[in-house]
Amino acid sequence: MEDYPLREFYSEIFNSYDRVNRIFTFGRDVSWRKKAVAKCLEYGPDRVLDVCTGTGDFIFELAGRATGSISLVGYDFSREMLDVAERKKLEIRKQNPGMPDIDFIEGDVGNMPFENDSFDAIGITFGIRNLVYENSKAGVHLSEMIRVLRPGGKLLILESSRPANAVWRVVNSFYLQFILPYLGGLVSGNMKAYKYLAKSSQNYYTIEQMGNILKVAGMHVIKGEPLFLGSVMLIIAEKK
Ligand SMILES: C[S@@+](CC[C@H](N)C(=O)[O-])C[C@H]1O[C@@H](n2cnc3c(N)ncnc32)[C@H](O)[C@@H]1O
Repeated sequence: MEDYPLREFYSEIFNSYDRVNRIFTFGRDVSWRKKAVAKCLEYGPDRVLDVCTGTGDFIFELAGRATGSISLVGYDFSREMLDVAERKKLEIRKQNPGMPDIDFIEGDVGNMPFENDSFDAIGITFGIRNLVYENSKAGVHLSEMIRVLRPGGKLLILESSRPANAVWRVVNSFYLQFILPYLGGLVSGNMKAYKYLAKSSQNYYTIEQMGNILKVAGMHVIKGEPLFLGSVMLIIAEKK
């Protein structure tokens, strides 16, 4: 089976991506990212990489709340998503000129231009699904992220998840199968991309399954927390 044309999908939905996120999570995605950022800052990192940064919402939240000097990098293979992030950076810096700078770098997670052990923390919000779900390069993506994280460094994953509660799982599944692809398609003009996003969310892992994948890849899982009744998960893992 061929991999999904993900770069193409994002290069077509970049304009409406933030709007659709707010609509389909009822604005909750903002508070989930805030939570991931707060956790990340608890570890006091000096250098943070936001993998699959997209339009940059995780790294902007981090930049807005970080104190002291911190080096921030947002990484993504979609030029169009990064262009939105760059435009947002200009706007945000007008309001907050003291905000730490963010380097947005274009490239594939399968082959990152960073030294081994060079980041204290890596955040990945709603991106790991893209990297591992029905993706022939899943192993390479995981090992690249682990390679650039320093030993003791933290990996923070925010992602859709399969709820443990059976009733909520049915509601969640209905929403993902029958509402998200059609309304997402309507707002973005690209039904194929939202069919993929909905299907990959619906079939994605439980917290335990995602934790096991990280363990097999050699990480130590510190915590897995269900959010929104388990439709979303926040996982924190450490490089041994
Ligand atoms: C669902 S968006 C998440 C964006 C953002 N992190 C957020 O919280 O909204 C997934 C992003 O992953 C990027 N992506 C997917 N596969 C990638 C890969 N192999 N290398 C680099 N970026 C990738 C896409 O271009 C897209 O911007």
